[in-house]
Amino acid sequence: MSDHRTVPVRLGSRAYEVRIGCDTLPALGEQVRALVGGMHAFVVADTGLPQRQMDHARESLAGAGYEVAFRTLTPSERRKSMATLAELLEEIDETLHERTDPVIALGGGVVGDIAGLVAALYRRGVPVIQCPTTLLAMVDASVGGKTAVNLATHTAGPLRKNMAGAFHQPSLVHIDLRTLDSLDDREFRCGLAECVKHAMIGACAGDADLMSWLRSHIDTICSRDPEPLIELVARNVAVKARIVEGDERERDVHAGRALLNLGHTFAHAIEPIAGLTPTDDPRDAPLRHGEAVALGLVCAASLAGEMGLLQTDEVETLRTLLERIGLPTSVQSLPDDETLLAQMAHDKKVAGGRVRVVIPEDGWRARVHDDIPREQIARAIGAIRRA
Ligand SMILES: NC(=O)c1ccc[n+]([C@@H]2O[C@H](COP(=O)([O-])OP(=O)(O)OC[C@H]3O[C@@H](n4cnc5c(N)ncnc54)[C@H](O)[C@@H]3O)[C@@H](O)[C@H]2O)c1
Repeated sequence: MSDHRTVPVRLGSRAYEVRIGCDTLPALGEQVRALVGGMHAFVVADTGLPQRQMDHARESLAGAGYEVAFRTLTPSERRKSMATLAELLEEIDETLHERTDPVIALGGGVVGDIAGLVAALYRRGVPVIQCPTTLLAMVDASVGGKTAVNLATHTAGPLRKNMAGAFHQPSLVHIDLRTLDSLDDREFRCGLAECVKHAMIGACAGDADLMSWLRSHIDTICSRDPEPLIELVARNVAVKARIVEGDERERDVHAGRALLNLGHTFAHAIEPIAGLTPTDDPRDAPLRHGEAVALGLVCAASLAGEMGLLQTDEVETLRTLLERIGLPTSVQSLPDDETLLAQMAHDKKVAGGRVRVVIPEDGWRARVHDDIPREQIARAIGAIRRA
C-alpha cells in the first residue's frame, strides 16, 4: 500500500499534522528532524511491539543524527503511575535532554499518555511526537493533547484513572499502519469500539456518512485489508481532530470534547466490575475498555430509542454492527441497577450528583443530557443485561 494521508489538526500556534501510511517508521527520524530539530531523542517504547518495529524507529532517529535514549515500558494501568512518571523524568534528565529535543512515544495509549506527560513536564515542556501502535491509540489517544497518569495505583482499591495530567499537543502524530500487524484481535476490536463511537457522532464533526461507510466496509476492516484500514484511521482521526479544534481544553460541558464520552459514562461503571466477560467464557474476564464501551454504546442508543431520538431500526443496526465486529452487546452477571447507578454517579462526568450522559440522535449527531431520570437510565442498562 503506497497510499498516505495527512489530517491537519488546526490549533493555531499548536497546530500539527497526523500522517498516516504503511511502513513509514524508517522515515520517522527525517520527519522529526525537519519538524523539531534538536540533538537528543528520548524514546519510550511499548514492549508489546515486535523488535523490528523498535529497531526501525531507533535506527531512523539515529540515522537522522539524533543521540537516541531508548526506554521500554510494559504498559498497564497500574504502571501508568506517578512512580513510573518520576522514573522517566529522572531518566530523561540523565540524557542531557535540551528544551528543543523531542520525546517519542512509540506504543499504545498507556505509553502515549505517560510519555506525553513526561514531555509536558520536563523543562516545563519539550516537543512530543506520538507514534501510536494500537488502533485505539491511532484513532483516539494520540490526537488531542491529553496526557495523564492514574492515581491510587499503589493501593488495593480502584484506580483514579487519568487524574493527574496536562494538555500538551504533539508536534506530529506519525501513524505506521504496519505496526497493527502484530496487534491481537481482541485489542483491534477494542479500537473498533471507539471507531463506532466516532461514527455515532460523525455529523457533529463533518462526517455524517461515516456510520454507513463503516457498516458497508466492516468485514474487510475486520480482516485488516489495508485499503479500508487507511480510510478508517484517516476518517476517525479527522472526527477526533474536528472535535478537538472546537474545544481544545474541554471547556464545554454540553458539546465539544464532552461528546467523545458517548457510551463512556455507562462503560466506566461496567468496566471495573470483576468477573464480567465479553463471551460467556470466564477465562475472557475481565472486560477490556473497548468492550465496556461497546456495551455503553448499546445503553446510550437504547436510551435514545426510548426517548424517540433515534429510530428503533438504527438501534438494532448499531447492535448488529457491534456483533459483526465481535464486540459484546449484552453481558451476564451484571450487578443490580442501584449498584450500577451509584457507580455512574461516582464517575467524574457528573453534574451536581446527576448523571450526565451523551445521547445519540437521528443523523448521527449527539447531545449531552443531565436531566435523565434514574429509572430511564436503569432501563437503558436493562438493554445489555443477560440472564
Ligand atoms: N489521551 C487520550 O486522549 C486518551 C484517549 C483514549 C484512551 N487513552 C488511554 O489509552 C490507554 C489505552 O490505550 P490502548 O488501548 O492502546 O492500550 P495499551 O496501551 O494498554 O495497549 C494495549 C496492549 O497492546 C500492546 N501493543 C501496543 N502496540 C502493539 C502492537 N503494535 N503490536 C502488538 N501489541 C501491541 C501493548 O503492549 C498492550 O499490551 C488508557 O490508559 C486510556 O486512558 C487516552
